[in-house]
Amino acid sequence: MENNRYLTFALTKGRLADKTLKLLNEVGITCEEMLDKESRKLVFVNEELKLKFFLSKGPDVPTYVEYGVADIGVVGKDTIMEEGRRIYEVLDLGFGKCRMCVCGPASAKELLEHHEMIRVASKYPKIAKDYFYNRKFQTVDIIKLNGSVELGPIVGLSDVIVDIVETGSTLKENGLEVLEEICPLSARMIVNQVSMKMENERIRKLINDLKNVN
Ligand code: PRP
Repeated sequence: MENNRYLTFALTKGRLADKTLKLLNEVGITCEEMLDKESRKLVFVNEELKLKFFLSKGPDVPTYVEYGVADIGVVGKDTIMEEGRRIYEVLDLGFGKCRMCVCGPASAKELLEHHEMIRVASKYPKIAKDYFYNRKFQTVDIIKLNGSVELGPIVGLSDVIVDIVETGSTLKENGLEVLEEICPLSARMIVNQVSMKMENERIRKLINDLKNVN
């Protein structure tokens, strides 16, 4: 029986979506419309392959996938951990590699060793809380920021930050360093739990194809 249902992808707008499209292209999944960089369009369709794509902010990707409006999502492991949605994480796509770290001035290192009550600024309060409370057994005060988190220790809002480190240049240019590594990160493919059953054949094939080019 022919399956006429669209398979829908939620992609993280920006660099991650560009890399995802390149990878999908390698397994024969294309979407001409999406290549136009000037376009402000958010939903794209490939009628022939019965595929739909939409672009959203990273933290919303697991939400769309959990609620089933997207069957598949591509998003960073950091976002998956922070959002804690009920989804299946099925594949490490191998790009967008970076690390989640505790960073700060070198002088803050001893605050981490002596389990002091410190202030931690982060865009990822859940990851920060889990790390300090459940892995280090250190009670800390977590302050949520929305970006340019490196400012925290510089302006005196916090002792350290929990943030993503890719090349390390943002830290270096601001006189900060990695004090502890929490975990490695990369882009992951996630799948809605019902779609995994209902569209098993198509999704399995996609996972296998992607594994073979990776
Ligand atoms: C991320 C992260 C660091 C920086 C790390 O910020 O929060 O600030 O990239 O990259 P690097 O190690 O290569 O310097 P992003 O650019 O996403 O912006 P944000 O500060 O608004 O979160």
